[in-house]
Amino acid sequence: MRHHRPGLFLTLFAILLPGVTLIYVASLKAQPTPGVERRIDDLIRAMTVEEKLGQMSQSTSMQIPLSDQIRDEIRHGRWGSFLNAGGPKERAEAQHIARTESRLKIPLLFGRDVIHGYRTIFPIPLGQAASWDADLIQRAARAAALEATAEDIRWTFAPMIDISRDPRWGRIAESLGEDPYLASQLGVAMVKGFQGASLASPTSLAATAKHFAGYGAVEAGREYNSTWIPEELLRDVYLRPFLATRDAGVASFMTSFNALNGIPATGNRLLLEQILRGEWKFNGVVVTDYTAIPEMIAHGYAADDADAAYKALRVGVDIERVSTTFFDTAKSLLARGLIRESQLDNAVRNILRLKFRLGLFNDSTAPPPAPPLDAARETARRLATESAVLLKNDNAFLPLANFTGKLAVIGPLADSPVDQMGTWVMDAHTEDVQTPLAALRTRLGNDRILYEPALKNSRDASHAGFAAALSAAQQADAVLLFLGEEQILSGEAHSRAFLDLPGAQDALVTEIAKAGKPMVAIIMAGRPLTFHSAAEKSRAVLYSFHPGTMGGAAIADLLFGDAVPSGKLPVTFPRTVGQVPIYYAHLNTGRPPTAEDLGIPTGDPVNPVGYRSKYIDVDYTPEYPFGYGLSYTKFEYGNLRLSQTSINENDTLHVSADVTNSGSRDADEIVQLYIHQRVASVVRPVRELKAFRRVHLKSGQREIVTFALAKNDLAFWSEENRFGIEPGQFDVWIAPDAASGLHGEFTLLAGRGSTAKASKARTQ
Ligand code: BGC
Repeated sequence: MRHHRPGLFLTLFAILLPGVTLIYVASLKAQPTPGVERRIDDLIRAMTVEEKLGQMSQSTSMQIPLSDQIRDEIRHGRWGSFLNAGGPKERAEAQHIARTESRLKIPLLFGRDVIHGYRTIFPIPLGQAASWDADLIQRAARAAALEATAEDIRWTFAPMIDISRDPRWGRIAESLGEDPYLASQLGVAMVKGFQGASLASPTSLAATAKHFAGYGAVEAGREYNSTWIPEELLRDVYLRPFLATRDAGVASFMTSFNALNGIPATGNRLLLEQILRGEWKFNGVVVTDYTAIPEMIAHGYAADDADAAYKALRVGVDIERVSTTFFDTAKSLLARGLIRESQLDNAVRNILRLKFRLGLFNDSTAPPPAPPLDAARETARRLATESAVLLKNDNAFLPLANFTGKLAVIGPLADSPVDQMGTWVMDAHTEDVQTPLAALRTRLGNDRILYEPALKNSRDASHAGFAAALSAAQQADAVLLFLGEEQILSGEAHSRAFLDLPGAQDALVTEIAKAGKPMVAIIMAGRPLTFHSAAEKSRAVLYSFHPGTMGGAAIADLLFGDAVPSGKLPVTFPRTVGQVPIYYAHLNTGRPPTAEDLGIPTGDPVNPVGYRSKYIDVDYTPEYPFGYGLSYTKFEYGNLRLSQTSINENDTLHVSADVTNSGSRDADEIVQLYIHQRVASVVRPVRELKAFRRVHLKSGQREIVTFALAKNDLAFWSEENRFGIEPGQFDVWIAPDAASGLHGEFTLLAGRGSTAKASKARTQ
């Protein structure tokens, strides 16, 4: 059983938590200084090769209670860090042994997958991304850090900032969506939240930018599959969030499982040696994903363990996790002259530097206290509220503010605490979770709720529960359908080839519709699903992703109008799986489709109307575009203006629009700015997000929303293999989503004799 299977851990935490043991806290003094670098060098000089390799090895095995073998190994410096291992008590004991009984007294570092919360679970990252609220996301990550560090976890393996454009991939749930700008902003917010103001604070959780790189582009959405990403696209899209987190001071990077352009990421010179260490000068820790080093053998890139270790070492990997090829083979690699000891020293230097930066070498006695749960829950409720996207609301059916009748609550996800938390919840407490059913019962009272799950879980194909559910719908005045995917249908190793509502859910919707009552579909899922028929039959659709601990309360707030939906899609929703990959920032073909091509069937398939880039059996447009989401109020956009129509490369262009809340509810709107360069040395996407703002507008309020565009916003990876700008004409939009908005244009003038070379923008 894998370490992060939720079932196992939901059972384990119950055993682990009661005995929270206080172990260790760093002082605030340990900043990396020349003095620290000297201490690191002194330590390295004193270390044996085994001790160096120990620091470079990360283990998952720490039984409860600690075995004599692991005690002994720690005493001998066999492990430098642990992953998802032990409980607070075991970690305390292991740390004590390392700090007092090992030869060099080098402290251990405990890492864990704190992905979207520790005990309090926030929406899955894809849901968080739908909030477009960097401040709130930062606050959520801070809350997770407070909970985790109180149990001596000082390193998390998040954020996952793999650009994800394929909903078949189960890990899209863990991603921040399809767009490099949005993922950069939100990934940085997570890093800041996890790490806090200083790594040296005892409540700081070192963050990891993962997975480096290209993992989100696995072919056919099949987990661990190959990725093929040309360098232009790699630099311009996939690497941008990684560079942003490097700039924000992320403590570590994790290599990815996939082979990128035929070379496994964990041995990839371009990624690790040239870009990360060379161009980006990253001196934090590079840790492999799980057993990614020996997996290079199965990839066909390494002959055996020694060869795999050699290939990971030569590109600058510092820590091998779980597998032990470094420890087992490095001595022979040294003896054969294939590697030098200075390579080990470099790795150890990065690892010890992180330990110093975290203050782990300082004497301390008290751990940070466990934070009160209320503050985290309040943040979780707010984030779940902001993460839900209203996709349909015919004739303002929602909110149900004045609803006085009975509600039928139907569906397998109305009352399933584990499922609503989504993937990666090792430390959650099921009893903390507020389900929609519980929240609705609290709000309306038991008598006004007729609950029928109808299906055992989201995959259930049986119609056995349909009759009871139909009867509940017939007795009610309106129906809430809780549909989607249960927890285990998304996440790592949970790719799907179909995107429809699984099991008999579509048939259930058809059956319940027979009652003729107005229906609202609330969809909880780890990915964009295709649910056209259910949406058609429903008056309103609220997409809440997997909303976490406070999901039920947030959904009830939204349904009854205590809160107004404000989320916007961080990823394009396809009409059918056959359109995948579909994303808004695509390039134009030489024969782009036009409005004339909309509507299926488009003419005669033998001689389709127009030989243009489209399908003959489905519209080329998505079901819901990137950036899309409705509100209970109405926002109007007008009066787009630009501070200049021509700019020089060092000018800042201001683009503004009036955004008016012309509806009756105070609400947030996420205003987006997109650009498009019409002609360039490398064809530019039809639109690219360059800025956004979540604004709160009272009913009737108008606000001028202004964005600034500077050189770096216009730069891209050009034909000359560098980031630069090229003079030319640009389109610009201020928009409520990627498929509409106010349009303007401007010209970037050529500098003195300039072409792409004129750019002084950063070259990485
Ligand atoms: C995942 C990583 C995760 C690790 C440890 C791997 O399978 O790809 O993202 O940090 O497991 O749980």
